Amino acid sequence: MWFSMVWVRMVVMAALNANKIGEARKAVDRLNSEAHTAKELMEGMTALLNKLMLKYSWVGFYMLEPGAVPPMLSLGHYTGAMTPHTRISLNQGICGAAASSGKTIVVDDVGKDPRYLACSLETKSEIVVPIFVRGQVAGELDIDSHFLAAFTSDDRELVEYCAQLVGKRLENK
Ligand code: SME
Repeated sequence: MWFSMVWVRMVVMAALNANKIGEARKAVDRLNSEAHTAKELMEGMTALLNKLMLKYSWVGFYMLEPGAVPPMLSLGHYTGAMTPHTRISLNQGICGAAASSGKTIVVDDVGKDPRYLACSLETKSEIVVPIFVRGQVAGELDIDSHFLAAFTSDDRELVEYCAQLVGKRLENK
């Protein structure tokens, strides 16, 4: 009985999340067609994802500083609380790991990942998706959640889609 109630709740939550993801994707497409510049797209995207996806407590971009030696990520547009991590080198944090590997990183419990750089005590899980411009990592989209394991495979697909849109827009700059 207890098990089936938990299961029903999980199915309902997954359906609600999928619905929200579909809504967010449509809104992102609309934003992409209306934004005049990459800056507008990135600003709008952080606000939109933070507003529509209730589990996304902090949404922001880190971009590689042009010509920096050693390479350095610099905080760009974001929606959420201020973070002390305004510059991150590639050997620091989940952000550094995603940029140096060129791979999406999903951390279900940041408390268990020794790489994690804390922005807020409330953050429980995180996703970082690299942004590619002409095949090279140019930055990343970073999202924190106050919930454990907030980022499902559907969330990952949505965030990767957003990162691709930004990469394409930066390529056409
Ligand atoms: N947690 C990140 C740092 C950036 S904040 O989440 C905004 C990391 O471990 O790299």
